[in-house]
Amino acid sequence: MTLVVTGASSDVGAALIGRVADNYDTIICHYRSSTAIIESLQTKFGDKVIPVQADFSDLKSTERFVETALAQGGDISHMVHLSSSSSSSVNKKFSKTLWTQFETEIDITFRSAVMCCQAFIPPMVKAGYGKVVMMLSSQMVWEPAKPYSTAYTCTKHALHGLVKSLAAEYAAKGVTVNGVSPSMIDTKFLRVPDIVKEVNISNSPIKRLLTVDDVVPAFEFLLSSGADTVTGQNIAVTAGN
Ligand SMILES: NC(=O)c1ccc[n+]([C@@H]2O[C@H](COP(=O)([O-])OP(=O)(O)OC[C@H]3O[C@@H](n4cnc5c(N)ncnc54)[C@H](OP(=O)(O)O)[C@@H]3O)[C@@H](O)[C@H]2O)c1
Repeated sequence: MTLVVTGASSDVGAALIGRVADNYDTIICHYRSSTAIIESLQTKFGDKVIPVQADFSDLKSTERFVETALAQGGDISHMVHLSSSSSSSVNKKFSKTLWTQFETEIDITFRSAVMCCQAFIPPMVKAGYGKVVMMLSSQMVWEPAKPYSTAYTCTKHALHGLVKSLAAEYAAKGVTVNGVSPSMIDTKFLRVPDIVKEVNISNSPIKRLLTVDDVVPAFEFLLSSGADTVTGQNIAVTAGN
């Protein structure tokens, strides 16, 4: 079995792969710039880790990623989409958010997901089995959403639409498509001012940010055969917030 992870170089990606690597023959580990995390995965898991670099803001680079993953990945059975823009459209007023920032978020997070699903779901359908899990956000579940991240939030909502649409389309083909929506996770690249972290901690029933270990088990479940009849769902990992 082959797992494709976009954004494998994120803290969530590395922690997830650490927990599920034994279940796969091959893991296509996408990264954009964080080579150190990918090298540590190669050291731990050897040849089954196949690194593939791509910048999803660039259409050609995304096309090359999809082609390389298909060529090197064998029978792709599972896909996790974690990539999202590292440039900050978070913590920004709507009136200051340029359309180009919407485009960047859409290209990196949503276009790449569409292209990956169009390429990787057909082999799953052929095998009669496959699982896709998308990283969403607690902005999907909070009513109302928190302000100042319009481009990010709108793009994650588009991804949620993809989850629900594909789940419906592929339910009878043995392919499940789900999402996970965590609140703020203490990852090393979290780019928000301390005051925003403090507000999130204060609003959380558990009075702390999530860790990757709080979040990864939801992905692990959705990738497992125990979730064969779970599709179109969005699991909130928010400690009740
Ligand atoms: N941290 C949170 O509070 C939180 C909460 C809810 C959901 N999430 C979601 O969790 C996921 C991981 O986030 P994180 O906090 O761990 O942040 P992160 O480390 O910045 O992760 C972003 C990932 O996306 C990749 N990426 C960035 N720009 C890219 C581009 N142009 N093309 C392709 N890939 C690109 C990065 O690759 P490189 O590092 O190799 O450049 C990295 O693997 C994201 O989808 C995020 O929206 C995070």
